[in-house]
Amino acid sequence: MFRIGIYPGSFDPPTYGHLDILKRASKLFDKVVIAVVSNPNKHSLFSIDERVRLLKESCSEEVLKNVEIDSFKGLLVDYVKKKDGCAIIRGLRAVSDFEYEFQMAHMNKNLCKDIETIFISSDNRFTFISSQTIKEVIRLGGDITGLVPEIVKKELKIKLEEV
Ligand code: PNS
Repeated sequence: MFRIGIYPGSFDPPTYGHLDILKRASKLFDKVVIAVVSNPNKHSLFSIDERVRLLKESCSEEVLKNVEIDSFKGLLVDYVKKKDGCAIIRGLRAVSDFEYEFQMAHMNKNLCKDIETIFISSDNRFTFISSQTIKEVIRLGGDITGLVPEIVKKELKIKLEEV
């Protein structure tokens, strides 16, 4: 059976934490679809197209062999069904992530009993990284080298000059 995992998120912006989860998930599934959420109620720094492009430019050729990068609107479970996915992939950094993730996993299970949520624990090197803190640190002039791909760092600087 060909198994497709869906890795959803805001990815605003993508970090090395996200890419580590993606790389490891791509070894567990025949194919992984990164699903960038389009949420009109949530203000994001990068547009959907920009986030999709940043993810494409941040992934190695090796990883991209069985990874598709896409976006979605609406309910995640509907998107997972549309893509023939069997599981939702989420990264867990710390216990503090757990409550929100547990709630989401159960809500998604309630909406569709055939879709599993698989948690991958973050590599130690990346447990403290979040898109939110990355944006705050760069906004305040801190160094984010080694925490996000160079292309993300470059475009974050340009974006923050614009706003
Ligand atoms: O990276 P994030 O912001 O933590 O990702 C959250 C995401 C995109 C997984 C979640 O907001 C989501 O699934 N949104 C789609 C709407 C939906 O299906 N909501 C019901 C699940 S609780």
